[in-house]
Amino acid sequence: MTEPSDAAHFRLLYDLGCAFSAKIDLPELIPFVIAKCREALDAEGVSVMLLDQERNELYFPYVSGEDARVRDRLSHLRFPSDVGIAGAALKSGRAILVKDAQNDPRFYPGVDRETGITTHSIIAVPLASGRGKIGVVEVVNRRGGASFTDQDLHFLEAVSGSIAIAIDNAQLYAKLRDSEQNLRTQVGVLRRDLARNDLFTEIVGTGPRMAEVFRLMESAAASAITVLIEGETGTGKELVARGIYRASARSEAPFVAVNCAAVPETLLESELFGHRRGSFTGAVRDNPGLFRAADGGVVFLDEIADMPTPMQAKLLRVLEEGEVVPVGESFPSKVDVRVLAATNRDLRAEMENGAFREDLYYRLGAFAIKLPPLRERREDIPLLASRFISIASERHHKRVSGIDQSALDLLVSFDWPGNIRQLRNEIERAVALTRDGEAIAADYFSPVVRGAPDHLPGPNGQKSAPRTVGRAGSERASTTEAGKPLREARAAFEAEYISEVLARNQGNVSKAARALGISRPALQEKMKQYALR
Ligand SMILES: Nc1ncnc2c1ncn2[C@@H]1O[C@H](COP(=O)(O)OP(=O)(O)OP(=O)(O)O)[C@@H](O)[C@H]1O
Ligand SMILES: [Mg+2]
Repeated sequence: MTEPSDAAHFRLLYDLGCAFSAKIDLPELIPFVIAKCREALDAEGVSVMLLDQERNELYFPYVSGEDARVRDRLSHLRFPSDVGIAGAALKSGRAILVKDAQNDPRFYPGVDRETGITTHSIIAVPLASGRGKIGVVEVVNRRGGASFTDQDLHFLEAVSGSIAIAIDNAQLYAKLRDSEQNLRTQVGVLRRDLARNDLFTEIVGTGPRMAEVFRLMESAAASAITVLIEGETGTGKELVARGIYRASARSEAPFVAVNCAAVPETLLESELFGHRRGSFTGAVRDNPGLFRAADGGVVFLDEIADMPTPMQAKLLRVLEEGEVVPVGESFPSKVDVRVLAATNRDLRAEMENGAFREDLYYRLGAFAIKLPPLRERREDIPLLASRFISIASERHHKRVSGIDQSALDLLVSFDWPGNIRQLRNEIERAVALTRDGEAIAADYFSPVVRGAPDHLPGPNGQKSAPRTVGRAGSERASTTEAGKPLREARAAFEAEYISEVLARNQGNVSKAARALGISRPALQEKMKQYALR
């Protein structure tokens, strides 16, 4: 170092202190410290060694130099913290200046062996922060052959305080960042668990089709992607949307559901995007609109296929730019909203016939969850039925002992055009009709489900003509014909009902007997009696 004036010296110390504390990343800080010390002390080599508290060893957190092998060896080099001049400095807590290292008994030649440099003069200064000893900074060989001076020693001692604090901060910062990263990972895992548990308890689904739905829901919950939920009416689209929201990072923010088919076209735009007071008749005050009201949360756009085309363009803008333009305003406002959409129509077909914007379709359809209709997942019907029975019996304050096998068979074989909602309604109705302590019987289902002839739609939707039963195919008398003796009426009903159940089971007697809750021989007996074959 060219002997600087005291003022220049202080200036340098101050600048270095500021520069060190401005670096918060250890991998950036250490090389910077090394470069600055080398420059200030005109040294051949500078190293920073850190103390591994657990193992009581010193190591090099950063190694520079031309030779990759030397760098590699040094970066793996560790030595006991009381070895060498560095160890002595660390142990005593005092800075040490050695002018002839090779003849100093404390000198540890291990580093020289690795680097190929011969150490002559050396300054080792312990680094200590509020947490205690954290390492040593060492300066080796003054350029030009002279040895270091006491002034160099004092200078390095003075700057070591700033170095120690900067390293301490950087280590704390790295630790914090690591633990933040760990927490993030844990939160992600917990969210997935939450999604799995929560959704599994509310949404019934056992087969492979529903397993796929749950898998997609979990991924959707863990990301921020726009989701399109497709499925026939009553298949649980809204349930799925709410499930994704609840398990997502936005679960604390609002969930706003809008049914695009239910809001008149003229109002939908201001409903969603808001309006300025006076922008149209009836707009008596500013309205932020649902998108802005849901800021930070989720907007669930139900029946998206019914959204008018001009609105579709505006929705695309929300999705792409995160901006809404309220009615009557010319400037957009920023919104941070996640969109989940649902449709019971074939959105692709709507797009192909021009009713739905192609760009919006591809934007929404990038992550689609398709819910299978109930008739394609009949395995879930018994479980759904028992879930709905307990919900309904609680509501009706009724103890329902379960469901007859024949009633259950009827539910399992029915086609469910209205899907789960329809099933739920049927159970609700049956529970209301069932007497306390009894089990649900098939009689309590609506005629549609029972397949009563008066309610069976024909091929064109009209009611079917009376079906014929009996060997000769003779027309059977109506079961409700007035004035008939009870025995006859009962027999007529029984004959008709059995023939229906047989038909529903493709004539399989064992299955039909099971559905009817009677034995196979008993059914065969009845079939003989009523001439059913
Ligand atoms: N997998 C399921 N498990 C349990 N209940 C379900 C399931 N799917 C749907 N439900 C119930 O069925 C009813 C209809 O569900 P939801 O309203 O979510 O259907 P949707 O697909 O949105 O119907 P729509 O097309 O008519 O709007 C709700 O009562 C819901 O709780
Ligand atoms: Mg719905």
